[in-house]
Order: sequence, then C-alpha cells, then structure tokens
Amino acid sequence: MRAVIAGSGSCIAPKLVTNDMLARIMDTSDEWIRERTGVEQRYFVEKGTSTTDLAEGAARRALEAAGLTGADLDAIVFATMTPDHFFPGCGGLLQHRLGMRPGPCFDIRQQCSGFIYGLELADLQIRAGKARTVLLVGAEVHSGFMPWREGSWARLDGHVDAPLAEGEWEVNTRTRHLSVLFGDAAAAVVLTAAEDGDRGVIDAMLFADGAEADKLCVPGVGFRHRPYVDDGQLARAEFVPVMDGRHVFRMATTRMAEAAQAILARNGLAVGDLRMVLMHQANRRINEYVQKALGLPEDKVVHNIHKYANTTAGTIPLLWDECVREGRVRPGDLVLMVAFGAGMTWGAALVRA
Ligand code: ACO
Repeated sequence: MRAVIAGSGSCIAPKLVTNDMLARIMDTSDEWIRERTGVEQRYFVEKGTSTTDLAEGAARRALEAAGLTGADLDAIVFATMTPDHFFPGCGGLLQHRLGMRPGPCFDIRQQCSGFIYGLELADLQIRAGKARTVLLVGAEVHSGFMPWREGSWARLDGHVDAPLAEGEWEVNTRTRHLSVLFGDAAAAVVLTAAEDGDRGVIDAMLFADGAEADKLCVPGVGFRHRPYVDDGQLARAEFVPVMDGRHVFRMATTRMAEAAQAILARNGLAVGDLRMVLMHQANRRINEYVQKALGLPEDKVVHNIHKYANTTAGTIPLLWDECVREGRVRPGDLVLMVAFGAGMTWGAALVRA
C-alpha cells in the first residue's frame, strides 16, 4: 500500500506587491532583493483573510482535480507556521469547512520543511491502512508577521502619498532582511491509497536539530513567558522573527544537498533517474548552490520564488501543482522534493507522479 498524489490545487493571495512597492515603505530596492534572493514580487492577503481561508481554496481545487469531495476524506494534515489561532489548529477548522466527517486532523509545525514532514505523515497513515484518502495542505499568511503600521500598508497600496509617521521608515528598515522574503499562499494535494503499481510516495527522510534553533525563530509571544504575551515583549517587537540570514543560508545549502544525496543513495537512484527536483523556495541563490552540488541540469530544476517569494509550507506543493498543470510533471515521472527550514528542520522525499 502506498500514497499516490491524486490531485493538487493552489490558492494565491490576491494583492500583488512588487519590490518597488516595498521600497515605498523601507530602505530597500528592487535590485537588492532580486540579486540577493531572486524575489521579484509576492502576494499578500487583504486584512482579515486567514491561513485557513487560503487553505480552503487550495483544498477545494485539489479535491476537484482528484474528482473527490470533502466527504471522501479520512484525514487532514495541515502544515503551517502562521496558524489562525494559537489554538485550535487549522486542521479541524478546515475539516469543518470541507464537510469532512469527524476524523483525524493533524496540525504540524516544521516551517519550511512542513510539506515534506506532512507527506511522510500522510503516507504512513495510508501505508498503515488507517486512511485511504488524506488531504495534505501547506498554507501561510505571513503578512501578519510584518511589523508595519496602517500608514505603511496604505502607502504600499499607493493610496496615500503622505509621509510615513515618524520612526516608521526606520522600524520597517530594521526588518528588511526578513520582510522582503515572504508571501502569502496555500497549496494542497490529495493522497489516495494504491495497492499496486509503482506510482506514489516512494520514500522520505526527515531531520531536525534544535542546536541552532535560535538562528531563526520568534523569540517572544510564547509560553516560555508568563504571561505569554505582555507589553514589554510587544515594545521589544519580540513577535517578529529573528534570523541570522548568512548562517541559515549556509545550513540550507549543506543540509538540502546532503538530504537529496542520502535519499537517492538509499533508493539506489541517481540524478539521471529524476524528471524534476522541487526545492523549497527560500532564496534562489540557495537553490543554485544545491543544484550545482547535485550536478542537476537546468531542465530538472524549477523555480517560482520570483513570483510568490517564500511561502514556507506552501512552496513545494505550489511547485508541484504548477508543474502538473503545465505538463512539466506527467504520470510516471520521478520527482525529488527537498526542503530546509526553521527548527532547524530539513528533509527530502521521492514521489512518482
Ligand atoms: N534591502 C536592502 N539592503 C538590505 C536588505 C534589503 N531588503 N536586507 C539586508 N540588507 C543589507 C544589510 O543591512 C547589509 O548591509 P550592511 O552591509 O551595510 O550591513 C547588507 O544588505 C548585507 O546583508 P546580509 O544579511 O549579509 O545579506 P545576505 O547576502 O546574507 O542576504 C538574505 C540576506 C537574503 C536574508 C540571505 O542571507 C538569505 O536568504 N538567508 C537564508 C534565508 C532562509 O533560507 N530562510 C529560511 C527559510 S524561512 C523559514 O524557515 C521560516
């Protein structure tokens, strides 16, 4: 028994924000962002739209592509680092909206590796015979992380030409190494049980090492504090992630290449056997390093960071959905997925479409 991807779907936030638009509210430039990251634009939700809202759009498209409805689902795995609430998780909220009968809904938080972790969990449910149809979704609304005030958002929209409030430009500039990297989107796949054939999830290798968790984390607003949120944490902006970008960059290049090589070796496969490699989209330069380390030709690598920026748990299913819909991945093609993210977490998966 093995889990086959029977359908996929995406839901991109509606508001296009170019690099030039960001340069209206902080000291940055299109040139810097493009050169250092490969990001050209991103999409943000309107205020009030949540991760579960985007996930619902993606899930409905994935179900439609699989020829199924919410009533056919046995389980949901929901990967996000930007949930609607501290609790409950988004999984149950999505179950209710899709009309799935009460059943297991897992909320997992492995950040940029969330989809690969989720794929393993969904596959194991199916292999164990506990579920036959599982929805796996990776969804994020990162715009809530942006420490921008209403005046900045209005300027971003181009509606207001008035100068920013005193100090706002400086506050926005302080987090520019992070805020320019992210976008809002969701993507989902429906996995169904297949008893024969060679299609489906072949293998996954997952890793986590908390030794350097502080290099990429949200330092405040958590239950290490009592109360878990207070004015001091807010004043110190401890709800905003901190990131040692260069350190994360180095770890991502090394760990992603290692995971990819390990899973190919474990399955007796080589780069030549792969149709496509879907890498987490955090920074195009990271992926170019990994591409070189693995000796991957151009036609086996796909990027979409220029369009959507980093959508964390959403990047790999978004790539999958685009490749399938554009015919770049066809039934029978072997695809390698690889990701690295906060935690630190990383992993790789092999899937035959
Ligand atoms: N616009 C203009 N200048 C900027 C910006 C910006 N948006 N951001 C930083 N700079 C400046 C810095 O202030 C610095 O200026 P200085 O030299 O005067 O001090 C200069 O550019 C270089 O800054 P670095 O941080 O050293 O730039 P770097 O080349 O390392 O690029 C980046 C930064 C893009 C963040 C890169 O380090 C990176 O991509 N790291 C990995 C990110 C990642 O993979 N994250 C994991 C996924 S996220 C998750 O899991 C939640």
